[in-house]
Order: sequence, then C-alpha cells, then structure tokens
Amino acid sequence: MKMKKIESVHMKGFRQFDSLDVYFNDKFNFIAGPNGCGKTSILTAISHCFSTQGHTHSRFSKDVEFWTDIAYNNALFRVGLGPDSFSKLAYRENTVRQWSRPLKIDGRNAVAPTNAPEEIPDFVPLFIGAQRSISYRQIAGLKREDNQEKNKVNYRNQAVKSLYGEWDQDVKQWMVNRYFIIDKDWAKEEAQNWEHLIMMLPSIGPLDSEFQYLRTERELEPIFKLYGKECYLEELSAGFQAILLIIANIFIWVEGTNVEGSRSVKNATGTVLIDELDVHLHPEWQFNIRSGLAAIFPNLQFIVTTHSPHLLSTANPGEVIRMPSSRYLHECKVLRPDVRSFAGWSTDQILSEIMDVKSLDNKLHERLIANALEQVEQSNAKGLQVAIEALKQISHPNDTVIVALTARLATLQAAADD
Ligand SMILES: Nc1ncnc2c1ncn2[C@@H]1O[C@H](COP(=O)(O)OP(=O)(O)O)[C@@H](O)[C@H]1O
Ligand SMILES: [Mg+2]
Repeated sequence: MKMKKIESVHMKGFRQFDSLDVYFNDKFNFIAGPNGCGKTSILTAISHCFSTQGHTHSRFSKDVEFWTDIAYNNALFRVGLGPDSFSKLAYRENTVRQWSRPLKIDGRNAVAPTNAPEEIPDFVPLFIGAQRSISYRQIAGLKREDNQEKNKVNYRNQAVKSLYGEWDQDVKQWMVNRYFIIDKDWAKEEAQNWEHLIMMLPSIGPLDSEFQYLRTERELEPIFKLYGKECYLEELSAGFQAILLIIANIFIWVEGTNVEGSRSVKNATGTVLIDELDVHLHPEWQFNIRSGLAAIFPNLQFIVTTHSPHLLSTANPGEVIRMPSSRYLHECKVLRPDVRSFAGWSTDQILSEIMDVKSLDNKLHERLIANALEQVEQSNAKGLQVAIEALKQISHPNDTVIVALTARLATLQAAADD
C-alpha cells in the first residue's frame, strides 16, 4: 500500500490570507468556524497547488505563494508555486509567468504543478465541491473508461474547477458500466468494489430507510430501494443523492487513477477534500457520515469543511480545525487540529464557541427563562405562573427547566396560602 497524505498547506498573499499555515492529521479533518471565515478558500489553496489551470478562481497579491507539504512513498515533498510565479495579478486574470517551484527546505523535494506528473506521479487528490445533485440523463450503453494516465491528468488539472462544480464525473454512467463489466474476468477489482458498495449502502443511511441498490434494468436505469419503495437514481431525495454522489465519486476516482492490482477501495490511500460535507444531509445522517466514510474507505485521508454542529460532535480528538473569524484572521499564522473532541458538547455550545453564532442568547426560550427567574426572585407566584405558561407554548414537552420552575411555583403558592 502506498503512503499518501497531505500534511499541511501554506498560503501567502492568497485571497483573504496574509500568511497562514494549516496542519492536518492523517485521517479526518473537519474545518469549521464563523461564517465566511475562509473554509472553502483553504481547500481552494490546496487545489491550486496541484493544478496547472484555474488560477483565475482566486485573487492574489504581489507576494503570492502557496504550497502543500505531502508525504508520498516514504519521502517528503512540497508541491505548489513559489514567489514570482504570476505576471498579471487581477481578479479573474492571473496568468502564470513561470512555474517557480516552492521555496526549498531540507528534507523535502520542491515540486511545481507542472512537474507533478513525473515527480509525484500517483499523488492525485480528489476535490468534491458543495453542489450535489443528480439530474436525469439517459444512458445509451457501456462507455469506455479513460485510462488512468489520462484520468490523473484530469483530476490534477481540473482540481479547482471540481471544487466549484464546473467539472464532474458521470455517476450514472459509472453505475451502468458496472452492470456491463462486473462479471468479466478482467474486472475482478471492480467487481469486488461494487460488492463492497452494495453491501455498505444500507449501513450509511438512516436506520429505518433500508437504503439499498436493487438492480439495473435493461433500459439502463439503476433502481434503488428506499423506505420500502423502489425508486430511480434521480428520484432519490436530496440527502441520498448527496451521499451517493460523494461515495460514487470516490469509487470512480480510486478505480480511475490507480493501476490494476491497486484499485481496491478498501486498500486505497490518498486524500479526499469535500466542501460542506453536511450539505443536504438530515441530522441523523450528519451523525453517521464520519463513521460511514471511515468504514467504506478505511485508508483514505479526509479534509472536509462543515457548518454542522452535529457533524463536529462526531469528530475524534484531534480532528477539528477551528478557524478564527475573518476579523481576527491576520493575528493567526498557524492552525492545527484541536486536540479535544466535542462529543460531549451540546449543539448550542458548538454553535456559539466554534461557529461563533452570536444570536443564541437572544433566543426566545432564553428570554422567557430569564423572565421566569425574575418572578422567582421577586417571589411573584402569579407572574411565575404566567411565565411558565408562556414557556410551555414554545418548549419541548420534557423541558427540565419547566419542571424545576413548576416545583418553585408550587412552593411559592404554598407559602402564599399559609
Ligand atoms: N476568489 C476569491 N478571491 C479572493 N478572495 C476571496 C475569493 N473568494 C472568497 N474570497 C474571500 O474569502 C471570504 C470567504 O471565504 P470562503 O472560503 O468562501 O469562506 P467560507 O467557505 O468559510 O464561507 C470572502 O469573504 C472573501 O473575502
Ligand atoms: Mg464555503
């Protein structure tokens, strides 16, 4: 098994970052933070490091440089562009003047995106953007799949576009191709991967959904089962489409970029970067997706961005990278995964401390409780009764605060009766 992982990314004069280095761990990385803090921009910087195209997607300043430190086959590399690479710096017009290799340091080979095919031939990360839906198209038949050399060129050069939904793979065609090829002698690994996918699908959906692939019909329409009913690929609800797109895209990438003999998804190594992993997913799925991805792809590294406190609560210690708000970004030069896990934090605690959501204190529930406590303070039984009634209108039936306030009310009323 080949070792492949992204260790860190360095950005200088890149988008909103004056200078920032972000470190990653080998397994899951959840990038989170306040609104607009620059989560997608970190993934974009990494995509620029491998790509010879798409530099117009970012605004650069005069001293721009960016690179990604990677470990690959027992050696260390620094991939990206060093100083003086761009000649014209204007939004949507950046042009590469020369492919300057990143600044060299001891123990790392510096590689420019143009040298990547020779110097790090099998290091080809997968970028998945935040747009996720499958629109209907009819499949005519088996389509020849490109060879892995051509695929690797595409995955590298379309990396930035991939992140912005401007380049993607045809998931439905891939599924239909599996229908034609999996019983062929030359497609043993593809058959094993397909079997793995079919077996794992039911375990990643909400428990009662019994999400299942059933068959592909002669009309070349893959059919699934969902909540006891058969349905076509394009009919799956947004959440199922999103999950299926992510997973199928990873299968397509593993099979498309590796040579025969190393195409098994269970053994595949490499990095998958996903913008807004939680998009379209019901909270129940947000709770399952980390373990689902880890079970299907046990040896991949994931770098994902998220807005979801549910997803963050599933992170293991050392997996959450907290970004400061863009206001304080200039004070921050280095970001590392937080050593803690947030599994024991409430949704509100994660929202306010990690995502910097300010409006939680103003929630109606909090205000009504503050009012009720004031009535307790003034020993005002009547006022407290009114406050409790107002709280009951908007609270969960098992709200423990209401139980406690009702007990206080009884005490106040008893005291008044005496
Ligand atoms: N193409 C771009 N070039 C330069 N700066 C950008 C570009 N796109 C976004 N930004 C800056 O990044 C900020 C938001 O970054 P983004 O990575 O989209 O945040 P997030 O994904 O956390 O919501 C924007 O407010 C803007 O300042
Ligand atoms: Mg974003």
